[in-house]
Amino acid sequence: MMTPADGQTAAPVSHLANVFAQYPIDVVHGEGVWIHARDGRKYLDFYGGHAVAGLGYGHPRWLAALERQARQMAFQTNALPMAIRERAAAKLVKFAALGLDTVFWINSGAEANENALKMAFKITGRTKAVALEQGWHGRTAAAGAVTWGALEKWYGFARRPFDVRFAPRDNPDALAGIIDRDTAAVIVEPVQGVGGAYDIGKTMLQALRRRCDETGALLIFDEVQCGMGRSGSPFAANHYGVTPDMLTAAKALGNGFPVSALMVSKAVAKQIRYDDMGTTFGGGPMACAVAEAVIDAIESESLLFNVRTVSTYIRANCLVGPVTGVQGLGFLLGLKTSRPAKEVQAALIGKNILTGTSGDAHVLRLLPAYIMTEGHVDQLCDALAQISP
Ligand SMILES: Cc1ncc(COP(=O)(O)O)c(C=O)c1O
Repeated sequence: MMTPADGQTAAPVSHLANVFAQYPIDVVHGEGVWIHARDGRKYLDFYGGHAVAGLGYGHPRWLAALERQARQMAFQTNALPMAIRERAAAKLVKFAALGLDTVFWINSGAEANENALKMAFKITGRTKAVALEQGWHGRTAAAGAVTWGALEKWYGFARRPFDVRFAPRDNPDALAGIIDRDTAAVIVEPVQGVGGAYDIGKTMLQALRRRCDETGALLIFDEVQCGMGRSGSPFAANHYGVTPDMLTAAKALGNGFPVSALMVSKAVAKQIRYDDMGTTFGGGPMACAVAEAVIDAIESESLLFNVRTVSTYIRANCLVGPVTGVQGLGFLLGLKTSRPAKEVQAALIGKNILTGTSGDAHVLRLLPAYIMTEGHVDQLCDALAQISP
C-alpha cells in the first residue's frame, strides 16, 4: 500500500455524504455576482447558488441585518412573541400583495410544501393530490411524492403518503379528468425550475384555478424557485394575475440564510389550529431579519425593474453559439441548446462563467442575482458565441 512516506500526497478524505456531483470550483469568497476560487480564478455567477443569491454575495443590507439581529437576539422560540417575526410577516404579505395575509415561517422549500400539502389534506379531508409533469417540489415524504419522476429516481420511502396524479403541463383540457372531488391539493410551480425554466403560462394557471374552484381542491403555488422577485414581479402569481390558496417561498427569501414561508388565504388561515403545524427554527429572529432586509433591498434598489430589463436583454442577445431559444420568465431562464447543456456548461466554466443545467438535457438554466447587469450578460453572450453549436 502506498503511503505519503512513499513520496505521494494523500488525497484528502471527504466526510461529506456523496450526494452531489461537484463542479470544479473550490469556492473561497463571493462578492456581488462574482465567485472567487482557491486557485485565484474569478467566475461570473449565473447560477446564484441554485436560485438562492437573489441579492448576490455580501449585500451590505443583508450583512447589516444579520449582524444587528445576531447581537440583539440570535434565536428565540415561537412560543415567545417577537416584534421582528411580526414585522417580517407583515412585510412579506405587503410585498406579495396577493391577499395571502397569514404567514407560517419554516426553514426550507420542501418543509414549506410539506406543510402546505398537510393543511390541504386536513382542511378538505380528501385523499389525493395533483401535480404537474416535470414539476419539482422537494425531497421529503409529501413534497417528494408530488415531484415528477421521484419514485423512479430517488424517493426511498416505502410508499407515497397519499394518492397522486400528474397532469400534463400544457393541456388545460386534461384537467377535468384528473382534478376531482377527491383532490385535496393541486401543487404547481408557475415557472418550473428543474423542469427546464419552463413557464406554465397564464392559460394553464387560470385553468388550474378554475378547476380547483369547481371541485373544492386547494391550489398551491410552489414559488420556492420562481418567487421572491425572480420572475420580475414579487411572485409569478402577480405576473399572471392568478391567486392560489397557498403559496410557498424559500431560496431567495433568505439570500443564503435558511428561511422559507407558507402564505395562506384568509379562508385557509381560519382553519389552522394550534399544533397543526410547528417548528423549532422556523421564524427565528435572524431568519426574519434577513427576509425583511431582502425585501427592503428588492424594493429600494428597484431590483424587479432590473430583472425585467436584463431578462429582456438576455432574450434579445443570447441566441448565439449553441443557443437556439430562450424560455422561462425574469431571471429563471432556460437557454435551449443544440448540444447537451452539460457540455455547454462545462465550456462556460472553462471561460470563467457558472451556469446551471436542468431536468431537460438541452436546457441550460440561468438563475442570476437580481443585480446582474447588461454588461455581465455581454460577457455571457461573448463566451457563448465562442462555443461551437
Ligand atoms: C420549486 C422548488 N420547490 C421546492 C424545492 C425544495 O427546496 P429545499 O431544497 O429548500 O427544500 C426546490 C429546490 O430546488 C424547488 O426548486
